[in-house]
Amino acid sequence: MNIDSLEDWKRSHDCGALRIEDSGQEAVLMGWVNTRRDLGNLIFIDLRDRGGITQIVFDPQLDKETHERAHLLRNEWVIACRGKVSSRLKGQENSELDTGDVELHVTGLKILNITEVPPFQVDGMVDASETLRLKYRYLELRRPGIFRNFYRRHLIAANIRKYFNKNGFLEVETPVLTKSTPEGARDYLVPSRVKKGAFYALPQSPQLFKQLLMISGFDRYYQIVRCFRDEDLRADRQPEFTQVDVEMSFANEEIVMNVFEDMIKKLFKEVLDIEIPDIPRLEYSEAIDRFGTDRPDTRFHMELRDISSLVKNSGFKVFQSVIDNHGTVRAICVKDAATIFSRKILDELTEKVNEYGAKGLAWIKVNDEGWQSPIAKFFKESEREAISRRMEASANDLILIIADKPCVVFQSLGMLRVEAAQRLGLIEEGEYSFLWVTSFPLFEYDEEEESLNAVHHPFTAPFEEDLALLKDHPEKVRSRSYDLVLNGTEIGGGSVRIHNISLQEEIFRSLGLSKKDADMKFGFFLEALKYGAPPHAGMAIGFDRLVAIMSGVDSIREVIAFPKTASAICPLTGAPSLVDDAQLEELGLKILAD
Ligand code: AMO
Ligand code: AMP
Repeated sequence: MNIDSLEDWKRSHDCGALRIEDSGQEAVLMGWVNTRRDLGNLIFIDLRDRGGITQIVFDPQLDKETHERAHLLRNEWVIACRGKVSSRLKGQENSELDTGDVELHVTGLKILNITEVPPFQVDGMVDASETLRLKYRYLELRRPGIFRNFYRRHLIAANIRKYFNKNGFLEVETPVLTKSTPEGARDYLVPSRVKKGAFYALPQSPQLFKQLLMISGFDRYYQIVRCFRDEDLRADRQPEFTQVDVEMSFANEEIVMNVFEDMIKKLFKEVLDIEIPDIPRLEYSEAIDRFGTDRPDTRFHMELRDISSLVKNSGFKVFQSVIDNHGTVRAICVKDAATIFSRKILDELTEKVNEYGAKGLAWIKVNDEGWQSPIAKFFKESEREAISRRMEASANDLILIIADKPCVVFQSLGMLRVEAAQRLGLIEEGEYSFLWVTSFPLFEYDEEEESLNAVHHPFTAPFEEDLALLKDHPEKVRSRSYDLVLNGTEIGGGSVRIHNISLQEEIFRSLGLSKKDADMKFGFFLEALKYGAPPHAGMAIGFDRLVAIMSGVDSIREVIAFPKTASAICPLTGAPSLVDDAQLEELGLKILAD
């Protein structure tokens, strides 16, 4: 096969550009053969590049030699073609393509490269396994729909940069080879060659560095920055991901939240042409109480209600004994679901709540005649009425009840409300519902380790009025923290920081960190706090999550060019991979056999 060179050919348009107004013009297009239909006489090819697709036509009457060569073309060959833009015949237009009113009548063809048969079809969504698609990710990325996500990602980043640049924030890069700073996940470690046996950690976030920059007087910092966390992966988690990271001096929660809210409003207006209303705020405790979770999806209602007081004297012993054992009985009312939620669906939901530790799921179908429910017989008429009233249930509604210890009840019902909303189609595409969740507990109790952990990170300031609780009821101390939630996903979080060394040391003590441990882990930071740290506060947005939601895709993998699989493997490069013995030796490392 003769491969042509481009010589003096110059591309005139991309493959998504031509319109009916261009008819009659000469154009030169370059790209990949997306599909071809060889009718013997006429040959139609859909030519693709990142801009889109244009139909090109080879007709022996236009140029016999070119037409002859066009018979050779196969999918994914790289070609350049020159020709005249022509309007398509009446009735032949393709409304699915931006260029669908025109086609290019080709008079010159260059074959720039050929291809082996691709491992999966680039055109269309006939899907190969994820591993295969990630192994040949560069081919998958050729798909125009996917490119659109990356174009949007680029636009969103550009807009965010524009916003922070305009408002006096400085983008400062922080180290990637560093000492571990805790964000609650495991670190990725990098061995040092020079100092054998010692390791750098890849940053879980630039948390301490941005605080150091405040101590340096940089005042307003931002960075679109890669973070690394070795944790169990899910659709919205990758081992390396990107944050929009911000820190501000002489600031409090109000100032930081206002900056982010303003940025989000401008971003959604510019990129999606959507007006975001003022973002409501909920304290953590209220979020849990009403939605069962600290990241409620507020695109629909279906709030949790406490019915403990209504059932505690009923004849249903399960509820009674849960309440006697400091548990709680709560419920949601799924509107108009009584007929739709069959026995089979209720069994599936029961299985799901079992996974969350719930021992059962009690359900009540409310009819005009009364209750249809396996637990109806345990309740007097007056109790039934009181429960229906508390749940604001009317005919054809379904009440779902869980009795258990509070955390199981909240988690199960929090999951059920989303599950029910999805099954009923209550969630509309293209709807964006933001929420601030504030005042998280400062600590959470780790039952396995029998110790306290920081809910955000150990540099988060407690409310001053809660400090008295620090000693005897640390779990009741609230932090000056805030999370930004979008459609039930935590897309960001931050806090006011501790800028006072003695308070920071006290928090470390509460976390069970001895002075020696604290010095070993963050001595450099504690030292810095001694030299005039200004009051400061900040926040970081999970950029991949934001882009995924703004692109309407389910997984952040779709907006990351070269993502890893759920087991943190990159099928494209084969990373992580074994290294040779000489490399290990240089680092002073030895692999122990399993
Ligand atoms: P946090 O740990 O809450 O805060 O992280 C901020 C946001 O980053 C996103 N995120 C992730 N996205 C993809 N994959 C992951 N593995 C992943 N982990 C977190 C989430 C999250 O809300 N230094 C603090 C911020 C601060 O206090 O200023 C921090 O990192 O959307
Ligand atoms: P049983 O009497 O054990 O058959 O339970 C009657 C109904 O109550 C069943 O639908 C169970 O799923 C439900 N149930 C049992 N335990 C609980 C619980 N802890 N919370 C909510 N419902 C429960």
